[in-house]
Amino acid sequence: MTAAPDIAIDVEGLTKSFDGRKVVRNLSMRVKRGEIYGFLGPNGSGKTTTIRMLCGLLTPDEGSGTCLGYDIRAQADEIKRHVGYMTQRFSLYQDLSVRENLEFVARLYGVADPTAASRAMIERLGLEGREAQLAGELSGGWKQRLALGACTLPNPQLLLLDEPTAGVDPKARRSRVGRRAGARAAPAALRSRTRAWRARPCCRSPAA
Ligand SMILES: Nc1ncnc2c1ncn2[C@@H]1O[C@H](COP(=O)(O)OP(=O)(O)OP(=O)(O)O)[C@@H](O)[C@H]1O
Ligand SMILES: [Mg+2]
Repeated sequence: MTAAPDIAIDVEGLTKSFDGRKVVRNLSMRVKRGEIYGFLGPNGSGKTTTIRMLCGLLTPDEGSGTCLGYDIRAQADEIKRHVGYMTQRFSLYQDLSVRENLEFVARLYGVADPTAASRAMIERLGLEGREAQLAGELSGGWKQRLALGACTLPNPQLLLLDEPTAGVDPKARRSRVGRRAGARAAPAALRSRTRAWRARPCCRSPAA
């Protein structure tokens, strides 16, 4: 399946049920490369499920589309290779240090110099002095920063961020987590945030 080269996400009619209950119903969205696109919804409204379908981790029951031009049903491996996905729940290795986690990710993605890439990311995200700390012993906000560093390190073409600033203090949101990662790492990003209404698009803007 092909898509226009300036389109990052193009899906139509996505539907997903768990245990006979529809949690995503007939969802369509189109996001251009270079855009920051967000959507909101209350807890359990299907935001994470949607992101997982977009990056090929979950197969929709109905609907189709592309992510970075790759078919979300048939080309999941390609999508995973080119997309950075920051999961809502911390999913790095708790018993590896900050540096070890970043180097592991760099090796997994075939980054040329994992040690240098890890060092640069530690500096970019303000994690200096915490390189040797076990990820499992970081505070919630620092874990978020590490997760953000890990998913941006391979320079993905697209970032999918699920509740990226939950637990991160306001100063860090402005100075590091939001600006540096969002602006530098990827031409298009999608993030989700929880508010008390149905899941729906909340913002659309060119990347900084
Ligand atoms: N693997 C699964 N198996 C069964 N049910 C699931 C599974 N994943 C999600 N669900 C259910 O699907 C619904 C939507 O969950 P999802 O995590 O997508 O919501 P969300 O909008 O991300 O919520 P939150 O704001 O709490 O993160 C919930 O009722 C959840 O319990
Ligand atoms: Mg969620």
